[in-house]
Amino acid sequence: MQSQRRKAGTTLQRIVWTKRAQSWEETPNPGLDSVVAAIVERASRTAFDVAVDLGAGSGQLALPLAAHAKKVIAVDIAPTMLEILTTKARALNLSNVETVCESLEKLQFPEASIDLIVSNYVLHHLADVDKASVIKACYTWLRPGGTLIIGDMMFGRGATAQDRQIIAEKVLKLAKLGPGGWWRIAKNAARFTLRIQEKPVSADTWRRYLTEAGFEQVEISPLIAEASIAQAYKP
Ligand SMILES: C[S@@+](CC[C@H](N)C(=O)[O-])C[C@H]1O[C@@H](n2cnc3c(N)ncnc32)[C@H](O)[C@@H]1O
Repeated sequence: MQSQRRKAGTTLQRIVWTKRAQSWEETPNPGLDSVVAAIVERASRTAFDVAVDLGAGSGQLALPLAAHAKKVIAVDIAPTMLEILTTKARALNLSNVETVCESLEKLQFPEASIDLIVSNYVLHHLADVDKASVIKACYTWLRPGGTLIIGDMMFGRGATAQDRQIIAEKVLKLAKLGPGGWWRIAKNAARFTLRIQEKPVSADTWRRYLTEAGFEQVEISPLIAEASIAQAYKP
């Protein structure tokens, strides 16, 4: 039952994001741009030949990182996202970007084959058990000394004061937008409560997934609104 629910969740993500690719590419999102910029800045402070972007979308992380890498592998479940990414890579004359159209739940790479793994605003779409197994898989794929950097919404369902503050700020911001915002509050509330599309977990839970997988020097820094960045190393 649980595994059927998770499988249905993955199929839903494929359908939703395949349809949403063009609008994701065209709609500016200044909040998310600052998370992307922070991840690229942190990544460029590390040495890497081979980088992987999990849930690469239309290339927000993969393309800037390609300038610093021998190879970037952009993974996404939505083929339309990867088509846009490939067109953009060609326009930028980047020949070192490969795409893999696969769900993160099924993704495989050889052990110790990757220097850097990044991901932005993707893992909250996965079931919690899959978040933890993707983190374990990242640990296996990274070479010793490799780095993992994750940007994502990181808050729980209201158990802590920090969760409640993040949720209240989100609600207030949307409420100010009028009827369109109220509709989004109702939609998001349903998604968060029923854990349909948005399944964020708190920074503490991310820290636990990372340390249980074996990562060291785990640092989680709040960035803007509900977004935090987790960075960790494979010893
Ligand atoms: C919010 S977008 C973020 C895209 C990009 N990382 C960015 O920063 O703009 C989420 C992306 O995750 C992808 N995605 C969602 N669930 C996925 C899964 N289970 N496996 C692989 N990709 C997934 C979607 O197709 C989409 O491109």
